[in-house]
Amino acid sequence: MSTIQLRTEIPGPRSRELMARRAATVPRGVANLTPVFVARAEGAVIEDVDGNRLIDFAGGIGCLNAGHRAPRVMAAVRAQLDRFLHTCFNVTPYESYIKLAERLNTLVPGNFPKKTLLVNSGAEAVENAVKIARCHTKRPAVICFEDGFHGRTLLALSLTSKVHPYKSGFEPFVGEVHRVPYAYCYRCAFSLNYPSCEIHCAQHLEDTFRRVVDAKSVAAVIVEPVLGEGGFVTPPAEYFRILAEICRRHGILFIADEVQTGFGRTGKFFACEHYGVEPDILVSAKSLGGGLPIAAITGRAEIMDAAGPGGLGGTFGGNPLSCEAALAVIETFEQDDLLVRANRLGERFVTRAKSWQDHWPLIGDVRGLGAMQAIELVRSRESREPAEEETKRVAVFCYEHGLIALSTGTYGNVIRVLAPLVVTDEQFDEGLDVLEAGLASVGGTSTRAFSRAP
Ligand SMILES: Cc1ncc(COP(=O)(O)O)c(C=O)c1O
Repeated sequence: MSTIQLRTEIPGPRSRELMARRAATVPRGVANLTPVFVARAEGAVIEDVDGNRLIDFAGGIGCLNAGHRAPRVMAAVRAQLDRFLHTCFNVTPYESYIKLAERLNTLVPGNFPKKTLLVNSGAEAVENAVKIARCHTKRPAVICFEDGFHGRTLLALSLTSKVHPYKSGFEPFVGEVHRVPYAYCYRCAFSLNYPSCEIHCAQHLEDTFRRVVDAKSVAAVIVEPVLGEGGFVTPPAEYFRILAEICRRHGILFIADEVQTGFGRTGKFFACEHYGVEPDILVSAKSLGGGLPIAAITGRAEIMDAAGPGGLGGTFGGNPLSCEAALAVIETFEQDDLLVRANRLGERFVTRAKSWQDHWPLIGDVRGLGAMQAIELVRSRESREPAEEETKRVAVFCYEHGLIALSTGTYGNVIRVLAPLVVTDEQFDEGLDVLEAGLASVGGTSTRAFSRAP
């Protein structure tokens, strides 16, 4: 039986009514990617306020790798509800914060003593990582990347690359932020080809120290191991080892922003593990909390201890419900083999997407790591002109037919998969059927041309 069940057109009457109230009461700057209001959710399925059932390939933008209402998360949160809700860790601490820090200090790659600070959001974690790096190195500058995304608060936004809609109108930005090209092989900034390029884009950092900023002034390089909002761009294997080595040579800290790549999405707890790099500081958030707000900054103990007492923290950082939820998320990954599942889902997607790519010029690139997978849509294979309008139409087609799917990328021409890893094979295939039909409707050929994975 199909999971998708549509009782009304999407959006239904109740969702449309709520959208009208929303327009009158909530600023338009808070975008809504789908006009569907949620009534309840479970696993990888969302039921809307009109009684329609949709498959969720968005996971609240990568926050639900362990699934909607993961049973262990629900039980842990319920138990905590009966104990206490808030005391502020800075005032009267509690054990779950310590337990979570201990778990993260072990899970984050790097065979050295580590410490973890807990905060509320990805952007807040990025801000703290940079504060700590500056405090430790006593240097002001930060290097970030074209097409990178690090959040919407002012320092995080200064590190974020995409102008529209994120940066335009919010100037001036924080000083001492310098941006360099990323390893976006499909659209190489240097018009080179891998592997003959010899990873020029990573080596180029040395040039930046001659042309743009003195290496001795740079506190940190902050980078996403796979670009999230930048279009799931996945660098070649050697890229991060070269970057990390250049950083080490100059006493610059290597900060991995694993807010979107983290927590099992890529088939390892952290994407850095694929690349064999041990960041000095790693930032995680999103799926760490299983749907509750929490973020972590984990790093070398001596670096994390740079700031004096009171220099770090916040009222709600590492709140008890979120800590319990995060511990339950880790247990769920371990008990239910969700890392293995992430890799299986990734393979399932790639098989299907490559068959689309073989037949449809619209699919320019298929890329990703584990279950963090995407397709980049282009008007022509030769020009690689971004098919932004077509991508928007595919996303609309998808929700109208019962699949919540998100676009991404600087050019808005990438469709990404962030389905909860607990999605069943049948649900996943059903979602891909809708996506395939959406692609067919904007420039492919007839639908159902391609067979499902066995
Ligand atoms: C890589 C990365 N860093 C930081 C952030 C900001 O996280 P938040 O929205 O929780 O502030 C995001 C959000 O999408 C992200 O993908």
